[in-house]
Amino acid sequence: MCSVKGKEWYQADDVAQEYESKRFSRGGQLIDRREKRAVLDSLGPVADADILEIACGTGRFTSMLAGKGANIVGIDISDAMLAQGRRKARDSGVSDNLELLRGDAARLPFPDDHFDAVFAVRFFHLAETPATFLTEMARVSNDIIFFDTFNHRSTRIIYNWLLPMGSHLYSRSRVEELLSDADLAMVDDTHDFLFPYGFYRKIPNDLARGFRDIDKSLGDGDFGDALASVSYWTATVTTDSTTTGRTDLETPHNVPDEAVTADD
Ligand SMILES: C[S@@+](CC[C@H](N)C(=O)[O-])C[C@H]1O[C@@H](n2cnc3c(N)ncnc32)[C@H](O)[C@@H]1O
Repeated sequence: MCSVKGKEWYQADDVAQEYESKRFSRGGQLIDRREKRAVLDSLGPVADADILEIACGTGRFTSMLAGKGANIVGIDISDAMLAQGRRKARDSGVSDNLELLRGDAARLPFPDDHFDAVFAVRFFHLAETPATFLTEMARVSNDIIFFDTFNHRSTRIIYNWLLPMGSHLYSRSRVEELLSDADLAMVDDTHDFLFPYGFYRKIPNDLARGFRDIDKSLGDGDFGDALASVSYWTATVTTDSTTTGRTDLETPHNVPDEAVTADD
């Protein structure tokens, strides 16, 4: 039986209502944009692609991808988070283009190889049994898997123990082990944010931009990858010796920052 503490934490209406304003207002807007860019870089062209997001929460990515023409399904265990997601989809005028389902990511209600890409953001730190979730993601994807992890050697450690919903930190070797066990091959990895997220959230967006530039320069240094708070991992299923279908998804796509508009 899989257990995720976040499974309980995100059920509460007030937690769901405040989810985005607490994390992605003020300097946190930069984090939201970075995460959206990471998803788009990983997935490449999404128009007409069949994409599943697990633990989709308030639909930050499902609405964005529906707006870009993807056939997107989001699944989450929390009705409260999904209610926010449905509202966002309505407000963005994309509710006819996406499907949001309540369900457990440990038992995805889809056949094998059903999607071109399956991804999760801000989920693996909540997972008590990440191998189960990754195996399920791999099962229903015919090609691309994307997810992020918070890193064991980073400023995340400083405040991690304060978080009520718990948080698991990962090393590169642990991620490699998980990928291998799920028959996935790594295609790309990027690492970012030396300064902690909590710092960005506390300062105004304009000020945050200056710190973000410093953060990026430090990240480009020799120890940047090793000390980054977050890693973005793109992998592909390996059960078939040739990667199926969308060869355009085999390498990461560098979508310029401007492509992630404020409206996303
Ligand atoms: C930190 S939020 C991330 C939401 C969204 N991915 C984002 O980045 O904004 C974590 C989400 O995982 C969901 N969750 C936790 N355990 C789950 C499970 N077993 N199956 C599906 N969703 C789950 C929670 O309900 C919550 O919406």
